[in-house]
Amino acid sequence: MADADIGLIGLGVMGGNLALNMADHGFRVAVYNRTRARTDAFLERAGALRDRIVDTDSPQALAAAVKPPRPIVIMVEAGPAVDETIAVLGATLSPGDVVIDAGNANFHDTRRRAAETTGKGHLYLGLGVSGGEEGARYGPSMMAGGDRAAFERVEAILMAIAADYKGAPCAAYLGSDGAGHFVKTIHNGIEYSDMQMIAEIYGVMRDGLGMAAADMGSVFARWNEGPLDSYLIEITGKVLAEPDPETGWPMVNVILDRAGQKGTGRWAAIEAQTLGVPATTIEAAVAARALSARKDERVTQAEQYGFAVKPMGDALGDPEAAYTRMENALLVAKVAAYAQGFAVMTEASAVYGWNLPMMTIARIWRAGCIIRSQFLDTIASGFEKSGDQTPLTAMPYFATIIDDAEADLRAVVLAATQAGVPVPALSAALAYLDGIRTANGTANLIQAQRDFFGAHGFERNDREGKGFHGPWGMTD
Ligand code: 6PG
Repeated sequence: MADADIGLIGLGVMGGNLALNMADHGFRVAVYNRTRARTDAFLERAGALRDRIVDTDSPQALAAAVKPPRPIVIMVEAGPAVDETIAVLGATLSPGDVVIDAGNANFHDTRRRAAETTGKGHLYLGLGVSGGEEGARYGPSMMAGGDRAAFERVEAILMAIAADYKGAPCAAYLGSDGAGHFVKTIHNGIEYSDMQMIAEIYGVMRDGLGMAAADMGSVFARWNEGPLDSYLIEITGKVLAEPDPETGWPMVNVILDRAGQKGTGRWAAIEAQTLGVPATTIEAAVAARALSARKDERVTQAEQYGFAVKPMGDALGDPEAAYTRMENALLVAKVAAYAQGFAVMTEASAVYGWNLPMMTIARIWRAGCIIRSQFLDTIASGFEKSGDQTPLTAMPYFATIIDDAEADLRAVVLAATQAGVPVPALSAALAYLDGIRTANGTANLIQAQRDFFGAHGFERNDREGKGFHGPWGMTD
């Protein structure tokens, strides 16, 4: 009997939690997973919600169990598995059915899949979902792209299960085809820079100032009460305070310094490069993960050079002054990182014709997602006052932060650099802020070099026109 409100294929951690979240909100969910054992484990976990779950043993049975026009969520590993699932579903789909890819898809794939759907009758939605396991279960942030009609078909369900920020659901339709997955990719790029900049400050505290993990944890917990108030600062405080039950050491001290990455941060950097938008904090964060992975090389060369961080002493002032400087440094660097992320989206919006609603994006990131914070509420207000196309660094509120606290970012980057603590993302943020406020840069020399070796031509600042050439070599 077709009585389920929605179908969901793929009962991994994210899929299973999304299904339970929907059931929790009163929806009947038909589920299917290729490996039966996983379905059994999920049904066991469903507990009291089991009554709202329809267990099916094939994609066809799943489609048959959902009320038409059927919304079917695919929550399988991004990549070929999504195409395979769409292909299997293909024959069972009817006009008006909605296929929703809720995985971390590359937006180019989403654009292709949306194009492949055209003319087939069913609709396609690429849904970026953020918030990890907890978010999926109790309220993620969701970024939708694709057919507007597809979004409208599932809007009530998405709004019900989304995270809530002071009564506003953190889910929205953002534009056609790959818009939702693109915005999720940039979310992850910003997530990478946020995490990296926090890790760099941790490096300054640990190696430059010689602080113990628990003390650092207290400082982060305090910062979470101020303008840095955010999920990532909060969990950093908690992580630093946690002892390892086996050794009694701080947990963070026994974790190998080699970071993993599934690829979405890298995609953000690649897309920024392709679009020609400087997103140096994201690039620095991705590169830092790659450097972290070269553990053996680092160990060997640390020995070869006898390299060690020099204690910073009171380079940042007494402890309280140092904490304030680092807090301000993080805040200013965050302005740069978010300015870059939004700039990438602004450019992509124009190139792909999405008309991305920046204020809405900032709003749906205020809760549920990994980068959720008060700061995003401030960004949303900034867009509301200044308009969606305004660069963050040009908004009065953020300009004040930069004016007031850039000296602290400079001091932290300087002290870290002198001590030998690598701070690539903080330095990138500072250089970006300096660069974006420099009226007269140094690219005139780049143009001269290009013209010298390749006759590429340049523009002059004293008259109109292009394709001028220098008298190179004539004065030899
Ligand atoms: C989210 C996260 C999530 C991501 C993990 C791991 O928004 O919920 O961004 O989608 O997969 O954070 O990403 P990495 O393995 O690349 O660090």
